[in-house]
Amino acid sequence: MSEKSTFAAAIVAWQRQAGRHDLPWQNTRDPYRIWLSEIMLQQTQVATVIPYYQRFLASFPDVASLAAAPVERVLAHWAGLGYYARARNLHRCAQEIMAVHGGEFPRSAAQLQSLSGIGRSTAAAIAAFAYGERAAILDGNVKRVLCRVFAIAEDVSRAAAERALWQRAESLLPAAEEMASYTQGLMDLGATLCTRRQPACARCPLADSCVAQREERQHLLPVARSRAKAPERQATFLLISDGQGVLLERRPARGIWGGLLAFPEAEAAQFLPQLGVEVQAVCSLPPLRHVFTHFVLQIMPQLCRVSAPPSLLREGEYCWLPFAAAAQAGVPAPVRTLLTSLPAVWAAADQSPPA
Ligand code: ADE
Repeated sequence: MSEKSTFAAAIVAWQRQAGRHDLPWQNTRDPYRIWLSEIMLQQTQVATVIPYYQRFLASFPDVASLAAAPVERVLAHWAGLGYYARARNLHRCAQEIMAVHGGEFPRSAAQLQSLSGIGRSTAAAIAAFAYGERAAILDGNVKRVLCRVFAIAEDVSRAAAERALWQRAESLLPAAEEMASYTQGLMDLGATLCTRRQPACARCPLADSCVAQREERQHLLPVARSRAKAPERQATFLLISDGQGVLLERRPARGIWGGLLAFPEAEAAQFLPQLGVEVQAVCSLPPLRHVFTHFVLQIMPQLCRVSAPPSLLREGEYCWLPFAAAAQAGVPAPVRTLLTSLPAVWAAADQSPPA
């Protein structure tokens, strides 16, 4: 049997028998639902995505409702999922589909790829699931599977090696009828068996043909890319509170967490005098690390206890919310973490005399 038919057949058979079948974006051919899931699942685990996906669909059931919504509302539904450019592109893409494609999703991977936020692999996944198109996916998990099965020991972040992997991925595709099972199977295999640290080769349908498994090189492939350590940045977050409410700031549209609510990022000595309220105490809380794609943010939270809600707030830019409402608002994950701990932190600080 050829390499192609063995590889695809093994994955399709395994997917049918052992793969995932009841994820909320499966068992549909609606490109809107499939597209939304594929965007949410970029860099994000299935278990994290599921509740976001369901809430999002309840609020925006189709591409027209999403296109018509204000972007702030879309961002609020994304709050906590991270990588917010995805939400902005999703919204832009919905508007492109309304304006350029008459509200219908394009029916080929090539056309899908011309839309905002849809890369080559995502376009292929949507086209395979919705239309059975013979288009290859190649995300990080699939790269790992291919590097191991075919013992590819090149740095796949390099353009030439990546081109060769795309060719390989395309050469392995099954017939159109099997594309949905095959594509899902490849994703499931990469996510559940052929994992980075502890591949479950004993259960793998590709074990017999996998060169890395035969040569016991699973842990050496794919080769680690030589990458400089991510730079670190520091930011001071001011948790300004009177014990019941807290001050949040709408972040500028550009930059990290653009358009979301967060704690003011400022130096206490400069910021607090502008509030027009008595400051009772300022104390530092334990720092928090948040990892972005290109840098690590070291968050230095400071609890600033004030006697009453500040009076000199610029409306639209700042808002004062009760603790519970703040935690429900569209805030990034580390801000939510801090908000959740705020009542307890406040109570503990209240026991100790002001500094
Ligand atoms: N990751 C990316 N796409 C996925 C899908 N359709 N199912 C599960 N995990 C995925």
